[in-house]
Formats: sequence, C-alpha cells, structure tokens
Amino acid sequence: MEALDFISAQDITTEELHALFELAKDMKADRKKYLRSCEGMSLAMIFEKPSLRTRVTFDVGIQQLGGSGIFLGPGDINLGKRESVFDVAKNLERMVDIIMIRTFAHSICTDMADYAKIPVINGLTDFEHPCQALADFFTMWEIKGDLKGKKLTYVGDGNNVAHSLLLTGARLGVNVTVATPKGYEPKQEVVERAKKDAEAFGAQIEVTNDAAAGVAGADAVYTDIWASMGQESEAAERKKIFSPYQVNEALMTKAKPDAIFLHCLPAHRGEEVTDEVIDSKQSVVFQEAENRLHVQKALMHELLR
Ligand code: CP
Ligand code: NVA
Repeated sequence: MEALDFISAQDITTEELHALFELAKDMKADRKKYLRSCEGMSLAMIFEKPSLRTRVTFDVGIQQLGGSGIFLGPGDINLGKRESVFDVAKNLERMVDIIMIRTFAHSICTDMADYAKIPVINGLTDFEHPCQALADFFTMWEIKGDLKGKKLTYVGDGNNVAHSLLLTGARLGVNVTVATPKGYEPKQEVVERAKKDAEAFGAQIEVTNDAAAGVAGADAVYTDIWASMGQESEAAERKKIFSPYQVNEALMTKAKPDAIFLHCLPAHRGEEVTDEVIDSKQSVVFQEAENRLHVQKALMHELLR
C-alpha cells in the first residue's frame, strides 16, 4: 500500500483493494501461513468507545501474524485529558510498531496519524469506519464474485458506516444507494467524493429517502443501528423517525431474490432489522464479522512491510 496510514476508505486505491482481498483470501484459507510475517511486532489498540469485533479481530489478527496487541481502554490513557494526542503519539511511536484507534472526533484520528511516525489505523470514528467497509465488500466479493456493476443498498442512518461504504464501494465499481429519513443523509462532502470516484469506475451513487425504491434490484441490503455510539441520548427520538426504515421481510422482497443481508453489528433486533431477516438464509452477518479478522490481518501485513 502506498499510504502509510489507513484513516479513510480513500487511503486505498482500487488496485490495492483487489490485492488486499486476494491476500485476505489467502490468509483466510490458511491461518498459519503468515504466522511469522509480523514476528515481534506490537500493536497498540486505543479504544475510547466499546467494541467486540474490532477489539477481538485486531488482537487475534496481530497474534496470527506473530505479533502482540496491547489494549488501551478509555480509563487507561484518558486521551486528550490525562495526556495530549501529540504526546501519546510521540510515546507510542517509540514503543510499538502500529496503532489502531477507535475514537469520537475524526480529527483525533488524523492528528494521531500526523504526529506518529508509525502506521495508524482507524478502528471507527464518528465520521468513518473504513475497516468495516473492507470486510463488507470482501464478504460480498466472496459470495457474488466480481463486484463491478453490483448494487448495495444501505438503509438507515447516513453515519460513519454509510460513509465508508460509499467511499469504498465507489472505488470497486459498486452501485451504492443510501436510503435514509430526511435530515439523516450522509454528509454531502462524502457523497460528492464517492460520486467522483464512481464516475471513474462506471458506478452510480444514489441518496434517497425512499427505502423500498432504494432497495429495488439490490444484490446486498445493509443496515446499522439507528443511534450510534455517542448518540445514546437521541435513541428514543430516532426510534420513531427511523421505524419506516426497518429492514424486514417486506423490504427484502424488493431486492434481488438472491440478495444477501449485511450488518456491521452490533444489531438491535426488532429495531433496524427483524429476527426474520437477520436469522434468514440471506443473512451473512457472522461471515462478515469473521472477515474483519482476515482483511485487517492483510491490512496490518501491508502497512508493516
Ligand atoms: N462492527 C464493529 O465494529 O463492531 P464492534 O463495535 O463490536 O467493534
Ligand atoms: N454506527 C455504529 C457502528 C458500530 C460498529 C456506531 O458508530 O456506533
């Protein structure tokens, strides 16, 4: 990979995405094959928000590459309060080989990458979740093959997950549609950037407030929780606004009959998705979660080369 960090879905080119997917496929086929590729290397994992998948897959991932992970929770470093982002970066770059950070403001993540001489990976900010999008499109690629011209429809909040899906999908030539309630669309700046890339790869980017029309003909239907981490106080109000955007059996019938269902997880069953859909044959959410491990191993392998 050309970029030294992975902060945004746009830090990786189309060619690099294809190569990363091939590497992740190889790593998935034989977990022991790359056991010495990052031997003796250390990953610092900074978490200012909760996590299951990101924490486990990064920790297990670096172990499977021969390295080790160090978990730094909110109570450990108290980023920006006990110590500035700059000072944390300047310490860690002398102690570990790579940093993964999950935080609130996207600027904290970009600052960390600017200050630290070692690679920094975005493990989720309020603005983007690029590792998630890698796993999502890798999963779609495993199941559907060539992604060019395929359609993925994201239904729900125009949030961090939606942003990274738009930016990654555009580079892979996937037609990405985002269906949200009015006022909850993805940021215009992200949509513009995705459209620019999509044009170059012959794909379409669409933003709509009509969930049924958006899902029409989709090869993959995706949703995420309605109130993201940090928005807990808005949860009750959002529940009312978003209920027409629930992914249920009726909505799934608008997609192609062989469409897959994706969700970054954690899911709030009965809210953004019904049990019938998430437990259906079309649902590949646990394969998608597992794939976080494989794509992130490939990512760390590339960044540490
Ligand atoms: N999808 C995802 O990032 O899960 P966690 O919040 O559990 O890490
Ligand atoms: N949009 C969600 C994703 C969780 C993986 C959040 O930010 O909480």
